[in-house]
Amino acid sequence: MRIAIAVGAILGIILTCAPHPAAAEGTLPLKHPHITMDRKTLQEGLHVFVNICMGCHSAKYVTYGDLMHYPQIGLTRKQVDALRGSKSLLAGLTTDLSPEDAKMSYGKVPPDLSVITLSRQGPDYVYSILTGFAHDPSGRVPDGNYNLYFPGNNIAMPDPLSWFQHDPQDTKSIE
Ligand code: HEC
Repeated sequence: MRIAIAVGAILGIILTCAPHPAAAEGTLPLKHPHITMDRKTLQEGLHVFVNICMGCHSAKYVTYGDLMHYPQIGLTRKQVDALRGSKSLLAGLTTDLSPEDAKMSYGKVPPDLSVITLSRQGPDYVYSILTGFAHDPSGRVPDGNYNLYFPGNNIAMPDPLSWFQHDPQDTKSIE
């Protein structure tokens, strides 16, 4: 249940903060999330995004200040201040993981997610990737890297929702 909320919420954030594309193409039909994007869900999503996704990814074209300008998310200045710490309101959401360390740990630099729904096949793609980790029937790709929806099926991202599942408390609140 919490996973569903997290996935929906992450999508909500990505959807709310970036324009949508219409195009869709891919080998496997993408999954579509059926989740109500209410304020609570969106705030939960931001919480997950900041605490989990931003461990590796940036969304540098979204600034902390921007986060206050979405009534759908409904963040107060106090919540944004708590999120940004000493960072400027004009600062984009950036990860602390350096490209060098990312390359060393995962073999690839995680892409910036600011316009991921635009540059790929929309929010359904992100949802499908997040829920698409599986066992490779051919045994070619190790468990943890096999993803039904990623082009080539071999993704360098460890399943981020499995971390969330194992350690839901290991996050800081946006309150
Ligand atoms: C431990 C590091 C790490 C975390 C945490 C992480 N990612 Fe990733 N992510 C990566 C890497 C590395 C790639 C590049 C995968 C590749 O190209 O093989 C990636 C790729 C992706 C892609 C595919 C992008 C594309 O090029 O099509 C999406 C979507 C994505 N991540 C979303 C997320 C979301 C949403 C979260 C939070 C729930 C998250 N990631 C958390 C490391 C991470």
